[in-house]
Amino acid sequence: MNTRKCACFKIPWFKSACNSGALITCCETMAGAVFVFTLVVLMSFAADALDNGLALTPTMGWLHWERFMCNTDCKTDPDNCISERLYMQMADVMVKEGWKDAGYEYVCIDDCWTFHKRDAQGRLQADPDRFPSGIKKLADYIHSKGLKLGIYADLGYKTCGGYPGSLGYHEIDAQTFADWDVDLLKYDGCYLEWKLVGEGYINMSKALNNTGKSILYSCEWPLYVWPFDKPNYTAIRETCNHWRNYADVYDSWSSIKSILDWSAKYQDIIVPSAGPGGWNDPDMLVIGNFGLSHDQQESQMALWAIMAAPLIMSNDLRDICPRSKALLQNKYIIAINQDPLGKQGYQTSKGNDFEVWERPLSENRLAMAVMNRQEIGGPRRFFLAAAPGWELCNPKCNITLILPKYQELGVVPLQTDLMLPVNPSGTMLLTLTPLQNTLQDHKLRWNSTL
Ligand code: GLA
Repeated sequence: MNTRKCACFKIPWFKSACNSGALITCCETMAGAVFVFTLVVLMSFAADALDNGLALTPTMGWLHWERFMCNTDCKTDPDNCISERLYMQMADVMVKEGWKDAGYEYVCIDDCWTFHKRDAQGRLQADPDRFPSGIKKLADYIHSKGLKLGIYADLGYKTCGGYPGSLGYHEIDAQTFADWDVDLLKYDGCYLEWKLVGEGYINMSKALNNTGKSILYSCEWPLYVWPFDKPNYTAIRETCNHWRNYADVYDSWSSIKSILDWSAKYQDIIVPSAGPGGWNDPDMLVIGNFGLSHDQQESQMALWAIMAAPLIMSNDLRDICPRSKALLQNKYIIAINQDPLGKQGYQTSKGNDFEVWERPLSENRLAMAVMNRQEIGGPRRFFLAAAPGWELCNPKCNITLILPKYQELGVVPLQTDLMLPVNPSGTMLLTLTPLQNTLQDHKLRWNSTL
């Protein structure tokens, strides 16, 4: 009997009886059943998306928050303060250094851009010292580069950073953003009672729609509801183009791990709500900053691609190391993220300090990420056939390794002994294309809905 160990499922609503030490025969039978069942459940769409024609694939761009936060000190720190100069410079680099060509499109302002008072007509105004030309001019500049401008507001009486909120002003604010030709709104949920948050998000969604301009709508609705109640993802998907579920990302591996752990724990709730027009947002990519090793940066990039997450970087594109840049611009990873099938991937097994995350792709392919969660020792080899999705490779698959290094592994049969190394806190990313007569079977499985 084959006694190879295999990793097993940890889908919250259907736990398999086989643990990391179980025999592969047990896993083969149960994993097959659970895998197909899980796919069918997760692939059924919960609701219609917000019908503004935007975010048909996950949004790609840059946002100032994680890297530049609420730095308003342009006198002593002009290069890093929140000012029109910062976004203009970022836009320049995005065009010159291949970011735009790679797909990054939105240049986004976060909190702390406004003057502390509204104008006589009740409109928000940009801080005149830091944005002397005003937001409309900034939008014109960003548009002249072929890019789009994002802005930030909050549904409460103050933003999280203490600047004027949109409570009582959401219609004026939506119109102001439209008049300024803004392309995206990140709408935060600080300083309002949680029971009113849903209404606040819906009101702004309608107000944006009423302007007649297409403005991508980025929400944090579920994040502010989760501490008290299960969010209504049907309503969220109908209202927003993406939505933050969980805490702010920090420039640290513990932050990335906590986001991934949360996403896996609640995947049965959040995954079905994602699809063209509306996405779960696990927050910004912090790749290119200070806190992650290169392997950890690869893990964030790979898992954000599997999760069909918006790829919104928060880093300093004017000064970024070539390896991080190459990773963020990796066309194979971006292609997984932007796959037109628009299905969010999820964790399909966990065991022996490995996690397997899989995402169905167009043309009957599968993306697979294997993360080594062991933070001691060297690279550990993962037995490829232990991944739940491997069952699609009957009788064989064409395998492309994308991380840690691009490599065509060629055709691999179902009964393979292939073991591939994964660095501690790193992730191996690959795509599987089933070959021969499994195609039809495969197609049925991946395309089925309840
Ligand atoms: C909240 C959001 C962050 C950022 C800050 C700004 O914490 O979740 O992404 O926008 O507010 O104050």
